[in-house]
Amino acid sequence: MAYDSLRPYLQVLEQQGLFRWVDKEVDKEWEVGAVYRMIFRAMEEDNRYGIGFRNVKGHEGGRIVAGVIASSRKMIGTVLGCEPTLEAIHERVTAGMNDPIEPVMVDSGPCQDVVIEGEDVDLGKLPVPIWTPEKDAGPYLTPLWVTKDPDSGRRNIGIRRCQIKGKDRTGILFGAPDRGGAIHHAKYKARGEHMPAAIFIGGDPVQYLVAPARYGADELAVAGGIRGEAIPMVKCKTVDLEVPAESEIVIEGHVLMDEVEPEGPFGEFTGFMAGGREGPVFQVTCITHRKDPIVLGVISQFPPSESSMIKRALLEAGLKKHLTVDLNLPGITDVHALEAGGGTATLWISMKKMYAGHVDQTAMGVMGHFGMSYFKWIVLCDDDIDINDPFMRDWVMAWRVRPDKDIKTIPNTASVELDPSSFEPGKTQADITGTKMIIDATKKWDYPAVSLPPLEMMHQVADNWDAYGLPPLDELKLPRES
Ligand SMILES: Cc1cc2nc3c(=O)[nH]c(=O)nc-3n(C[C@H](O)[C@H](O)[C@H](O)COP(=O)(O)O)c2cc1C
Repeated sequence: MAYDSLRPYLQVLEQQGLFRWVDKEVDKEWEVGAVYRMIFRAMEEDNRYGIGFRNVKGHEGGRIVAGVIASSRKMIGTVLGCEPTLEAIHERVTAGMNDPIEPVMVDSGPCQDVVIEGEDVDLGKLPVPIWTPEKDAGPYLTPLWVTKDPDSGRRNIGIRRCQIKGKDRTGILFGAPDRGGAIHHAKYKARGEHMPAAIFIGGDPVQYLVAPARYGADELAVAGGIRGEAIPMVKCKTVDLEVPAESEIVIEGHVLMDEVEPEGPFGEFTGFMAGGREGPVFQVTCITHRKDPIVLGVISQFPPSESSMIKRALLEAGLKKHLTVDLNLPGITDVHALEAGGGTATLWISMKKMYAGHVDQTAMGVMGHFGMSYFKWIVLCDDDIDINDPFMRDWVMAWRVRPDKDIKTIPNTASVELDPSSFEPGKTQADITGTKMIIDATKKWDYPAVSLPPLEMMHQVADNWDAYGLPPLDELKLPRES
């Protein structure tokens, strides 16, 4: 399934009842952010839809769209063209990782229908909302950034928050130093050169799903593998970079080497405001866009959010491949990154334990994965447990863990830079470290049978429930063994 651009994709979402336009006039300074919050604070996952605003106060003709990438698993399935199950999502992403298709260059694209350079550049003309009113430092884009490694020329794509600070100036948060974009930035800094960078917004929504992970391959090639077609790219006008030709908006410029200034705070995926520290500056040289461009935002802030949904689904897929294919570790049945931790704090793994040391080595394999700042809690349990079921996770923690023997902490490891528990007041990014905890929640010896009737009896009764003349049952939830 390949969407040419954001626009046909929105039509598909609309047909499926997963997207609505709003015609009421809205104030982007507070109202838009508050309405978007309702998608995650007042709608069950199966009922969520993305929202577009086309009557934004002070921005005649401007359009803001958000909640359209990952408000629900059903929506992620629509982006990927697969069933809305985690298994199908993981399968599609893994297929893209295994068979990436490199982007192709084209001579021109709609993202350059309008070209604005020099004095005419004015980011204030774009309707960019305040996501967490009265708390964010200003309007923020949540776009895709492209940079290149100055040594190898290898491209990196990442979603990064982007504070609009003036007509031709934004902030950027590179996050932990292990991120692809942060590595490029450090290399340019060591050379004393400004870093060419470009922001792009819109295009095939699959680009937003693949950006947060790292694959050892160009993220856009992984996106090409998933969609089964190469992503067409055009050359930027003022920097030596390429961007997807079908984007809505492209902002070109340089991350300056000789300037820092306060960036943030911004409502973050952890559920807390974060920032207000010194950060790099992006000096804009050119804006190009389609006619009547759409500003697409990705809803982050308090979990659950699009950010936690994306991270969860994609990091799970990437980790599964890393553990089972790249490291060739046996016995792993499932991995699950909990959304309350934004998809990056707590990880559960179910596995068939096969040899002494298997559990700890699997946990170490997680820590050796990309994003070494991720997953401060790593819990490993036997494969009889459905780790997607919160009650079963609590049950396993209650009865299969002996704290003095089964829990290890590993101090002085990388921390998610926005984790308020690691970021002591007065410290800078360079100072912060965190701790990882490995919890071995597997059975260490044979356990007694579980205190439930045998599974066959439970199924027999459930299948025959009508015969008892009682109201219908809800979902039958059983451990996999009894
Ligand atoms: C909505 C959203 C906003 C994000 N903002 C940032 C950010 O400002 N800085 C950052 O390092 N990561 C941010 N992330 C996490 C990024 O997905 C991730 O760091 C980045 O894409 C990793 O790519 P890289 O390691 O290839 O650079 C954000 C993710 C989402 C979904």
